[in-house]
Amino acid sequence: MHNKILCELFATHGLKDAESQAAYLQSLKPYAIQIWEAYQNQAISIDYSNLKAQEAYLLRYFTPYSYLISTVLGDMGERGMLLFGHDDLLKVSVFGCGPGPEMAGLIRHLKTISKRPQMLYARMLDVASDAWSHGRAIAHRGIISGEWDPSLIQIDSAHIDIASEAPFPDQDADLLVFQNCLNELNSEKQKTVEVKLRNTLSAAPTATTMMLIEQQGYDSTDELLRRLQQWANETTDLYAAGQSGSFDCWDLPDRIPELILQHLFVRRRDRSPVQSHERGLILRSKVKYRWLTIAKKP
Ligand SMILES: C[S@@+](CC[C@H](N)C(=O)[O-])C[C@H]1O[C@@H](n2cnc3c(N)ncnc32)[C@H](O)[C@@H]1O
Repeated sequence: MHNKILCELFATHGLKDAESQAAYLQSLKPYAIQIWEAYQNQAISIDYSNLKAQEAYLLRYFTPYSYLISTVLGDMGERGMLLFGHDDLLKVSVFGCGPGPEMAGLIRHLKTISKRPQMLYARMLDVASDAWSHGRAIAHRGIISGEWDPSLIQIDSAHIDIASEAPFPDQDADLLVFQNCLNELNSEKQKTVEVKLRNTLSAAPTATTMMLIEQQGYDSTDELLRRLQQWANETTDLYAAGQSGSFDCWDLPDRIPELILQHLFVRRRDRSPVQSHERGLILRSKVKYRWLTIAKKP
């Protein structure tokens, strides 16, 4: 997957020779560092409108984050907890989607199921939806279009502020996904979202499934997921499950291309002091996450 993204980026920019490819990768470093720095704080503030910031995100996070949702879906499937995916059409809404690694992960999971939906309808929703059109297009051309019959998938996108007072759209989606986005909200906005999530689930039809996946290390999202799970457990027509997990990024089937390691990011296994030129560019070895799934009982 990393390699497909890289090839799509080179093709998009018409970079054919090794020298221009190396220079392009090196030019992404300041943007990669900026994003990394933003995530070192509990109060996150990032501007994704710069195309190079999106490209750095795609090369660094898209692949591992696609495994967040596919790992959780696999886990839920093994426990017999997946209520959706048995009809011919699967409707999914992805909130705070960025470039949409959730779609790549969802498709990876669906391809493991023998009786899977034929047709996918996805709505990609983000507060920076217009800005992310570049990142989504790269991901679509490089990955999604090769993984699912293009005539059987429709992906729309729209602006949404998940923390606004307006209720969530897409009450008819089979699956609603919130991955790596609730931690970008302050605790007041998280409270607004919490009420909206509860209202959405209360009004949702049978078998609607909501998945919340957040990375560990943010106290307020841990607390939000805990409160929601407790509420769902106390609500008779809902079914909730959740836990924490982690995976090793270097054990994933997708190898990180050498070019990326030579010219952009650093991979190191030892704990020797970080050199100044490596700061903000060291690839994480593990992704630790917490998930919560709430489904409307049949
Ligand atoms: C770290 S990115 C995660 C993207 C994707 N979900 C993933 O797992 O890679 C966080 C995303 O949340 C979006 N976001 C932040 N605040 C939001 C809000 N209030 N409403 C909707 N999206 C929001 C950002 O624009 C960004 O695309």
